[in-house]
Amino acid sequence: MRKVFYNAGPIAHMSNWNNKLSLDEGVKSQNIHTKGNAIICKDNLIEKIVTTEEAVEEFGITNHSELITLDLRGKAVVPGFVDAHTHLIWAGDRSREVSWRMEGLSYSEIASMGGGINYTVKATRNSSNKELKTLGLSRLNQALRHGTTHLEAKSGYGLDTETELRLLEVAQSLENENNIPALTHTWLGAHSTPKGLTRAQYVEEILSEQLPMILDQGIAQQADVFCEEGWFTVEEAEQILSQANNGGLDLRIHIDEFKDCGGGELAADLKVRSADHAHYTSENGRQAMDSAGVNTGFLPGTPYSMGEQWPNFIEMVDNFYQFSFGSDFNPNCRTLSLPFMGSIAVQRCGLDPLIALSAVTVNPAKTLDRNDGVEQGVIKEGGICNLNVLNSEFWQAWALQPGISPVETTILEGNIIHHQL
Ligand code: NIG
Ligand code: FE
Repeated sequence: MRKVFYNAGPIAHMSNWNNKLSLDEGVKSQNIHTKGNAIICKDNLIEKIVTTEEAVEEFGITNHSELITLDLRGKAVVPGFVDAHTHLIWAGDRSREVSWRMEGLSYSEIASMGGGINYTVKATRNSSNKELKTLGLSRLNQALRHGTTHLEAKSGYGLDTETELRLLEVAQSLENENNIPALTHTWLGAHSTPKGLTRAQYVEEILSEQLPMILDQGIAQQADVFCEEGWFTVEEAEQILSQANNGGLDLRIHIDEFKDCGGGELAADLKVRSADHAHYTSENGRQAMDSAGVNTGFLPGTPYSMGEQWPNFIEMVDNFYQFSFGSDFNPNCRTLSLPFMGSIAVQRCGLDPLIALSAVTVNPAKTLDRNDGVEQGVIKEGGICNLNVLNSEFWQAWALQPGISPVETTILEGNIIHHQL
């Protein structure tokens, strides 16, 4: 089956993020095609991009069993977004914590008085698979509504072998649903220490029981650890992630969210695919990550939710360091909108909207793989046909609508999904 999308307005993407490429070259090198293109999709792939006139001549405009056409009426087109950091499956509600934060309590103080991750663990353990699946499905629909076509989903609110496996099973079962983003599954058993165990006991349980079971069941593609003072140390993170990597999992890591804990140096040593938060990573750590080819996964929704300063995105651009934006959807940061992350970066922090676009498309795509190995995050021949048609003739509109979705239509692996307006 062929689909022809006529009259695409500007098609904006970063065809490749070369961290040594100057910004001007990045913007000028045909990343923004002019008005009047047609994108031709065969099955789930982009077959070619030609002018609308050429496409009309070759395919006509009459739909039949082998051809569907769609007139995009000059609306701008950007790639499907890739959210490479979400805590998708959990139950419960931590809204009351905002009042504690306003009284001046920190994230770790809230955790030590019974709130935080362990509060969510309790509610999650008490929920059935069916309840968790319903929550997960509704969240995936929200993500798709905001243009996300691939989403990384972490476990981490089980904190025992049985529930961690259950969370990964629930996430995997979502793949049987139609019209949801493609998924990458990440095991985050080392997210916090469960009640009733010391950290040393839990690390021992992870290494001897939980991780071997996860590997045995082949139920995750990646492993992650929350490496931060008060949670897991650099040494513990190294031990857990090395064993996970030896068992065949790709690596990601949460680092330096509240202070520099040496996470950048560890991420570089382990050559993880992405080191996330990285808010307070030292310059030495950033350089080490750059040399090791490690992506920095900024999560602007977290400082937004907690009322903190933004990381310095512009400095990253000046140093040509590769970075992405993820939503970090979790009980503390309740958004699955990458356009909202774009708005923070562009409208609050002065980041160029094309660089910001690369941070939700081509860059996060480099930190995970589609199951079929097809390239994503760019609009190119042979790539997956994941596209967002915006509600504007200007591609910059993707990052200028924080409270609503700028996406009118998402083409998901060639399937046309018109969103409710
Ligand atoms: O990435 N910081 C660690 N994990 C999550 C938050 C978890 C929670 O507060 O429930 C994050 O922000
Ligand atoms: Fe996170």
